[in-house]
Amino acid sequence: MDLAFKSLVDYVSRESGIDLHQYRESYLRRRIDLRLKMLGLNDYGEYLRFLKSNGNEEIQKLVSTITINVTEFMRDKTPFEFLMKTVLPEIASRKRRVNSNVIRFWSAGCSCGEEPYTIAICALEALGEGWLISIYATDIDDTCLEMAREGFYKPIQLKNLDRSLINKYFEKEGDGYRVKSFLKKYIRFKKHDLTTERPVSKYLDVVFCRNVMIYFSEQQKTKVVNDFYNALVGGGYLVIGKSETLPAGFKDKFECVSLREKIYRKIK
Ligand SMILES: C[S@@+](CC[C@H](N)C(=O)[O-])C[C@H]1O[C@@H](n2cnc3c(N)ncnc32)[C@H](O)[C@@H]1O
Repeated sequence: MDLAFKSLVDYVSRESGIDLHQYRESYLRRRIDLRLKMLGLNDYGEYLRFLKSNGNEEIQKLVSTITINVTEFMRDKTPFEFLMKTVLPEIASRKRRVNSNVIRFWSAGCSCGEEPYTIAICALEALGEGWLISIYATDIDDTCLEMAREGFYKPIQLKNLDRSLINKYFEKEGDGYRVKSFLKKYIRFKKHDLTTERPVSKYLDVVFCRNVMIYFSEQQKTKVVNDFYNALVGGGYLVIGKSETLPAGFKDKFECVSLREKIYRKIK
């Protein structure tokens, strides 16, 4: 890492409270270069001076560029179909055997809320009445979490949802849709950095961490997947992004339930 780049990364990490050193250097350079181009600046030294004189606003923009929040309801669709048809019925029958009606989820890297709301919809649709569903939804990005709590979305973000589900779980508002308040009650949104903090909870039945670890180094991935392992109950499920793989060293900790959907199960 050259000095100008290092000073920039150190400064932004300190000011934003988000440790950028966790990201791969090549990835960081690509994202920072995008901001440089947008601002018409030539090098990292110039950008650091700009950041120092333009304060918080540009730091927020840079952090959002690095943490990319692209998502939608039922992203990729088929993992959620698998969740409803296979994973949730299996969990439900296991819970019934021990007289429990609590099912706990974690959407880790939940972006602006589309994933945890999707999980809530799938759980309600697949399980019906009588279950206590609790969903932790965490992200490192404050702006995104604010939007998630608001629960207001443009039609394009709902394009994978059937009309009947939209009518049941959303209210039309202006040029978009707002999540109905009864659905929000299943979800607890919280700021959380996967790479530096401990898991938000234990005894989880399903952890979703999709399209988040792609930006992490192998070492960070190992830390995060190990946290998920510790946070899950025996037989609990881990769902990762379609283009992602588990880091090496987890073969005896997770079995693959569906390679296509990237769904794994904690070996008891
Ligand atoms: C592409 S979105 C994925 C959203 C959703 N999981 C999905 O698959 O559609 C990646 C999210 O990861 C979050 N993220 C990036 N680094 C993180 C970290 N260290 N801890 C927690 N969240 C992080 C970003 O803020 C962003 O909202």
